[in-house]
Amino acid sequence: MSVSCFVSNPVKRMSGEISVPGDKSISHRAIIFAAIANGKTTVSGFLDGDDCLATIAAFRAMGVQIDGPVDQQVVIHGVGKHGLQQPAQVIDCGNSGTSIRLLAGLLAAQAFDSELTGDHSLQNRPMARVSKPLMAMGADITTSEGKPPLQIRGGRPLRGIRYDMPVASAQVKSCLLLAGLYAEGETTVIEPGVTRDHTERMLKTFSWPVKINNNEISLNADGECHATDIQVPGDISSAAFFLVAASITPGSELLIRNVGINPTRTGVIQILDKMGADIRLVNERFFGEEPVADLLVQYAPLNGIDIPLELVPLAIDEFPVIFIAAACAHGTTRLRGAQELRSKESDRIAAMVDGLQRMGIKTKACEDGLDIEGGVLQGGVVHSYHDHRIAMAFAIAGAVAQHPVTIKDCINVSTSFPSFVQTANAAGLHIGEYHD
Ligand code: S3P
Repeated sequence: MSVSCFVSNPVKRMSGEISVPGDKSISHRAIIFAAIANGKTTVSGFLDGDDCLATIAAFRAMGVQIDGPVDQQVVIHGVGKHGLQQPAQVIDCGNSGTSIRLLAGLLAAQAFDSELTGDHSLQNRPMARVSKPLMAMGADITTSEGKPPLQIRGGRPLRGIRYDMPVASAQVKSCLLLAGLYAEGETTVIEPGVTRDHTERMLKTFSWPVKINNNEISLNADGECHATDIQVPGDISSAAFFLVAASITPGSELLIRNVGINPTRTGVIQILDKMGADIRLVNERFFGEEPVADLLVQYAPLNGIDIPLELVPLAIDEFPVIFIAAACAHGTTRLRGAQELRSKESDRIAAMVDGLQRMGIKTKACEDGLDIEGGVLQGGVVHSYHDHRIAMAFAIAGAVAQHPVTIKDCINVSTSFPSFVQTANAAGLHIGEYHD
């Protein structure tokens, strides 16, 4: 099989202006809510990565006409709250945890049976966190020992619940809120910590009443989604690679345009700021309900820190590249309370420790985090463990390494950032791609 590898070469500096593709979480949600809305929704700035394309394919399989994406624009012809049809086949969510968990909530409430599955990585990710509370609402779901595939029997009337989430997860919260759109009575989700609130904002965008009281989010079935037009901001999770790249490469100055700065997502900026980074937010404005800014980042010497616990859920997807910043910092960076990193597209603690050690950086893993001693990154060969964010993080490390870094198996970069190599090279990185 042909497997895409990256070779990332050391560079002098990064400069210029770039933009990053649309936010993955918002792109998924735009499709989901538009599909069950009354009327036609146009989404601009849509992320045409494999994960969001899996969500599009799922709704097409349920009878929703979706045009595009063409130039990051998608038109969804909503079928209304009760207009989805039974898919003829198993829905394949590919690598996408957001697709499978959010769709589980929506499908548990439909009149028809359905089945959700995914690739090898997704088939090993925990699903009891959604199936259990959905079953408490009256859903009928079978998992394979808590993992995909999920067999969902339709026609089960759901009851609203008050659910105290054991893990801080936006996917679980969103899954239950989607089920709650169809449940009798009120559905309330209580968060143990702040998680991304794109679902709540998207509900407002589509005119569905939602009550937010500190960490409690409630809704009921008395609503309708009204079609609307959506402009998706650039994904801060994709921008994060360049925030770190410019911060660690001497002489760099980079402007990243139109990045979503939803406060539930800006943990990476706060963590880098505490490490001494020079990141400025300019031209702050809104795309609908979502705040956006241009991010101006300049090289700055970084220091190791103890990452504050409360910032962990706000930066959960950005840790692979934050670890690269830590590897270049003066002193030790300590992360705790990040057990969730072990259940992402790969075990991100193990994958990063492996790659960093191969590059000559001292690291020590524990169950819920790790210690990284800043040092000098050597070149070498590292593995992505089929994980898009591990692949991109080590591609960034290559900018400042002593010798080129080869990253094996980068095919999944297309799940979230298909244009990564072009964007990176336009900003001054020197990444080659080959197949072996
Ligand atoms: C996401 C929520 C997060 C995040 C994932 C996308 C979402 O997962 O890691 O990449 O779109 O809701 P958890 O909710 O499991 O923490």
